[in-house]
Amino acid sequence: MSTNPAAASIEPERDLKIPRHIGVIMDGNGRWAQQRGLGRSEGHRAGVEAVRRIVGLARDYGVECLTLFSFSAENWRRPPDEVRFIFSLLRRFVASDLDKLDQSNVRIRIIGERDGLERGLRGIIDEVETRTRDNTGLDLIIAFNYGAKVEIVNATRAIARKVAAGELAPEEIDEATVAHHLDTSGLPDPDLILRTSGEMRLSNFLLWQSAYAELVFVPENWPDFDESVFVRALRTYTERDRRFGGIRT
Ligand code: IPE
Ligand code: IPE
Ligand code: MG
Repeated sequence: MSTNPAAASIEPERDLKIPRHIGVIMDGNGRWAQQRGLGRSEGHRAGVEAVRRIVGLARDYGVECLTLFSFSAENWRRPPDEVRFIFSLLRRFVASDLDKLDQSNVRIRIIGERDGLERGLRGIIDEVETRTRDNTGLDLIIAFNYGAKVEIVNATRAIARKVAAGELAPEEIDEATVAHHLDTSGLPDPDLILRTSGEMRLSNFLLWQSAYAELVFVPENWPDFDESVFVRALRTYTERDRRFGGIRT
């Protein structure tokens, strides 16, 4: 329970602080399916419905950026059939939802390693980004084949190349230089990282960008994510005292 005396008076619509950027680690699809005697694929399929729900909620509540962790660089360790199924879900999601997302003014960006993805999928990613590039509503970032450490290595290499070419002096490298070379360049850092399924770790998600994010872990598995879970997470976020190293004045 909260120790904040103001917490009891918070009402969902009026008093909630809305994070500019929410990052979501959508975890627990497998366990959701297992609990129902279903195969893991059914959990992933149900997870897509929860993706649709959170995109609608983010828009309704005025969130600017929503980053969804969909497939990690480490998820290649899973059986090939499961990996293939997750990839096919991304393809099907784009086929079924892109028109509607575009009409809703959602701008989509996909972050993560493109090398290593098959050409067809890379084409789909390009199409999604090109189609929605000029939209001005919700920024939807899909982290697919994404790992924060690889992202930081890639940024380091790009910066090193500029130094080697004489375009940049080592002394000129600052936090903004690094941020600019990450996949998330131009986006605000996440204010809230939300993870479902009760696991309390970041699993290589947005490590640089989350330096001052509030971390909220909820017990529900991802396919059970709905407005009540969302509002509860926002309430927890609202009750947090974000000091950024300073003190309350
Ligand atoms: C999250 O659910 C989806 C992905 C990682 C692709 P999981 O598949 O990790 O579900 P659990 O953690 O095994 O329950
Ligand atoms: C993190 O979930 C990756 C995604 C949600 C896409 P995992 O289920 O892969 O993470 P671990 O293995 O429990 O750390
Ligand atoms: Mg998991």
